Amino acid sequence: MENNLKIVFATGNAHKVHEVNEIAKGSGIEFILPDEGFDPIEDGETFIQNSYIKAKDAAILSNNLSLADDSGLCVEALDGAPGIYSARYDSTPQKRIDKLLTNLAPFGNRKAKFVCAMTLVDNKGEIIHQVVGECKGAIAEKQSGTNGFGYDPVFIPEGYDITIAQMPENLKNKISHRGKALRMMIEFIKNNIM
Ligand code: IMP
Repeated sequence: MENNLKIVFATGNAHKVHEVNEIAKGSGIEFILPDEGFDPIEDGETFIQNSYIKAKDAAILSNNLSLADDSGLCVEALDGAPGIYSARYDSTPQKRIDKLLTNLAPFGNRKAKFVCAMTLVDNKGEIIHQVVGECKGAIAEKQSGTNGFGYDPVFIPEGYDITIAQMPENLKNKISHRGKALRMMIEFIKNNIM
């Protein structure tokens, strides 16, 4: 598309950039990876703080408008864990899933939610807008499906009887925490920046 507004998406995860570009299709916004050297220290205490840390780092590095997400899985019976530590809960994606299923095994309550906080900053790292999207659901007894990433194989969204990893990408994007947050952010960008 011509005259796309290019926004740096503050992540090293190319799958996330693919996902947000799918959601943003037709909006006139194109998300691109940060310049080489993006390695922020995510030491915030909330999703929203960490999204700001990442957005600011990428904006200053790339001298460009930047959007960051910080996301994770919050499990009710585990007092919100792994939460902001979702990416660091164990050393590999499979070990993180195994640890979650083991820790949750003694509990009857399997309610959980994915949370996605997003911060948009200008090229100097000043906050322009922040949003939070959530996707409620439950943790499955065992993992199923191979689509998506992270905890998708064990997360069953409310109103469904399959995991996110068993869904086509367009359905995930319609109901996901990231999809909801990004659509709110795109609406803001269209009304205030473009
Ligand atoms: P970050 O937002 O990149 O710091 O990491 C969030 C972590 O939460 C990921 O590494 C995943 O483990 C998990 N997570 C976030 N979003 C999703 C999702 O859409 N599906 C599955 N896992 C997710």
